[in-house]
Amino acid sequence: MEERDLEPAEVHDLDPLAFRKRVQSFEFWFQSVEGYLSGTHYGHRPDVREAPIEPPDRERLITVLCNYCMGETAALEGASGLVALAPNRHAKVFLSTQVVDEGRHLEVLLHRLAELGVADPEAEVERRAGSAIREFRRRLLALVGRGEWEAALFAQNVILEAMEFTVFQTHARRADPITAQVLEGIVKDERRHIGFGENELGRRLREHPEHRARISTLRRELDALVLDTFEQTIREIGIPADERPELGRSYLAAVGRLGFAS
Ligand SMILES: [Fe+2]
Ligand SMILES: [Fe+2]
Repeated sequence: MEERDLEPAEVHDLDPLAFRKRVQSFEFWFQSVEGYLSGTHYGHRPDVREAPIEPPDRERLITVLCNYCMGETAALEGASGLVALAPNRHAKVFLSTQVVDEGRHLEVLLHRLAELGVADPEAEVERRAGSAIREFRRRLLALVGRGEWEAALFAQNVILEAMEFTVFQTHARRADPITAQVLEGIVKDERRHIGFGENELGRRLREHPEHRARISTLRRELDALVLDTFEQTIREIGIPADERPELGRSYLAAVGRLGFAS
C-alpha cells in the first residue's frame, strides 16, 4: 500500500516498524495534508459564506475558540520542546511535522477569531482562556522543561491530543460552516499526532515498564484538568446532556490502548 492510500484510521493499525517507516516522515505528512488543505484559505474553502450568528452565540463561540488557541499554543510549545527530548531521529522528524501542524492550527484559529470580528485575537485569548487549559499548559511545559520524555509525550500526544480530537470533532458537527471546516482540518492532524503518541509511548513502555507508575500518577493529576476543560467547552457549545458522555470516550479509549485503566 502506498503512503497516500492510508486513511488516518489505519494509521492506528500499523505495527511499530511500519508506523515508523511510513508515518514518521515528511513524505507521509505532505501527502496527508495535501488532500484537505489544497485550495483552502486559512483552513476553509474561500467560497463558503459566513452564516448569520446571533450575538450571544458569537460571544460563546469566541470564548471557545480562545480556549482552543490556548490549547494549540500549548501543543505548539510542547511539540517543539519534545523535538530536543526525542530519543531517536525518526521521532524528531515526526515531531517536526507536528510543530508545523500545531503552528497552522494556531494560525487558522486566530484568523477565525479575526473573521468573527475580534480586533485583537492575541489579547482576547489572554482575556478569555480558562484556568484549566492554562494550568494544563503550565504542567506540560514543566514536564518538557525537566526533560521527562515519557511523561511529556504522554501529556502532549495522548492526553492533550485526545482531548482536542474529541472536542473539535464534537464541536464541528454543530458549528457554523466555516468553523466546522477549520475544525475538521485540525482533527485530521490531531488523529495523526495521537497515533504517534500511542505508537511511540506504547513501544517505550513495553521496553521500560518501570515508567508505567509515573504515567499512571500523571494521568490521575491531568485527568481533572482535561475534564474541567471538557465541561467548560460543553457548556459554551450547548451540547445536550445525553450526548456528553461521548466526549470522554475517545480520550479514555486512547489512554486505555496504552494499558491505563480509568
Ligand atoms: Fe493541534
Ligand atoms: Fe496536535
